[in-house]
Amino acid sequence: MTQDELKKAVGWAALEYVKPDTIVGVGTGSTAAHFIDALGTIKDKIKGTVSSSEASTEKLKSLGIPVFDCNDVDALDVYVDGADEINGQMQMIKGGGAALTREKIIAAVAKKFICIIDTSKQVDVLGKFPLPVEVIPMARAHAARELVKLGGTPVYRENVVTDNGNDILDVHNFSIVDPIELENQINGIAGVVTVGLFANRGANVVLVGTENGVKILAE
Ligand code: 5RP
Repeated sequence: MTQDELKKAVGWAALEYVKPDTIVGVGTGSTAAHFIDALGTIKDKIKGTVSSSEASTEKLKSLGIPVFDCNDVDALDVYVDGADEINGQMQMIKGGGAALTREKIIAAVAKKFICIIDTSKQVDVLGKFPLPVEVIPMARAHAARELVKLGGTPVYRENVVTDNGNDILDVHNFSIVDPIELENQINGIAGVVTVGLFANRGANVVLVGTENGVKILAE
């Protein structure tokens, strides 16, 4: 199977976690796009969605799936999204698609984070995938200096502006042995909007697309 076929399998498997008459949190990326296609087939059974990016909003709307403002929603039963890396504690690196801030907000609102991945995303130690950090543009140089002090090598993601009008620094060379500590430290840097470490709030269920079918990992 190709990587995209594995992504499709988990995107569709995530439908099992969507309850009727609820509002569904929707992630961003190629795996989440398969989930959106799947959601389109049950759009009359759900109230609608909250979306983590302009790209996902556009796709949801093109399929006739209602998209609500996050501020108008009290609670979400599930948030379904992919990840760039995930460890055995279900802590993740996200933000390869630059949508990390909205993704983190929706993950915070949702009762359950359903992470949909193929096997290539599973790691023992997070950090091989460069860690995305969204920064206010005027803080880019300051945040980069602070990230170097933490042992990383930040690289400005050129020609990318986030949906929130900010910049992304991709931090290389981290071997993240204490993800919660590093998430808290980076969140403490002035000008950082969000770090793409989802450690304080990890996934609750992980659906892994494998050659032998979809494997379910749960807390
Ligand atoms: C976007 C993300 C995505 O979930 C992550 O990049 C995985 O993407 P894909 O499903 O395309 O492999 O965090 O900001």
